[in-house]
Amino acid sequence: MRSKLFVPGSRPELFDKALRGDADALSFDLEDSVSEDRKADARAALQALLSGPSARACGKILIARVNPCGSVHFDADMRAVVQTGLALLNLPKVESTSEVLTAVTALEAAERANGVTEPVGLLLNIESARGLRLAYKLACAHPRVAGLQLGLGDLFEPLQIDRHEPASLHAVMLQMRLAAGEAGVFAYDAACANFSDAESFRAEANLARRLGYIGKSCIHPSQVPLANEAFRPTDAEIAHAHRVAEAAADAKARGIGAYTVDGHMVDAPFVLRARAVLSAAKRLGLG
Ligand code: COA
Ligand code: MG
Repeated sequence: MRSKLFVPGSRPELFDKALRGDADALSFDLEDSVSEDRKADARAALQALLSGPSARACGKILIARVNPCGSVHFDADMRAVVQTGLALLNLPKVESTSEVLTAVTALEAAERANGVTEPVGLLLNIESARGLRLAYKLACAHPRVAGLQLGLGDLFEPLQIDRHEPASLHAVMLQMRLAAGEAGVFAYDAACANFSDAESFRAEANLARRLGYIGKSCIHPSQVPLANEAFRPTDAEIAHAHRVAEAAADAKARGIGAYTVDGHMVDAPFVLRARAVLSAAKRLGLG
């Protein structure tokens, strides 16, 4: 899931274009991109889309972002978007483990009501100081949690933290990445509102990749190829990973734990990384 394109539920004219585009995942939104007076219309449009054949046939990872747990919209949102084919439910502004558990209960009820048999995962937005401080606990709150998603607009803007200050950006990204790593879930990078600034998007995406994030949110189709490029393992990385995997098999047969590949020492953690590169490459059809 190198790229995840947000599509406002209130703009059904964008749905087709999104389904036909190059994003690995689509995140249909009922939260902040939808104004209060359009919530019901957006919900109905998403219900129609997600329960119909075109979304299921598109081959993309389907995600829906609902309004926050505890909001007046939450229950109706859940009943509408939890449909067969939905991979992840994106929960915004999460700040307590009880919210996660409430969401799981609502998710299970919606799955039963809508005949969904493949369990839907949870993607939790970490987008407040409290959410970031509790990120590990939130990620461990329930096995349904599949990943953490950084939300930099909500985290930084009210605190007047400059997103272009590299030290601040790096600090929060690493903190969330380590929380996700400790909990054994994936970390996903934030959206960039300024979609005409490809350079900033690229720089953030490259940083996220170096920190072990699996992809970056997009809000405009022009950002999708940038994310796909940044999170694609390079040919050199794939070739090196193959050599590590081969050397690991050979070393295992010889009972050796540390050995040399391409001039570097390799032991168990490097093999884990190589395997992760190879499975990402395989998922992308890169061999
Ligand atoms: N999904 C699919 N298609 C999109 C799209 C999206 N998120 N955003 C833009 N497009 C399409 C437009 O319809 C247009 O298509 P066309 O060339 O066939 O006419 C093309 O891409 C260029 O769009 P553009 O005119 O530059 O954008 P816009 O002014 O229509 O919309 C935004 C700009 C930012 C309002 C819009 O991209 C958007 O709503 N993005 C998602 C916002 C969101 O969900 N935020 C919450 C998460 S942070
Ligand atoms: Mg937000």
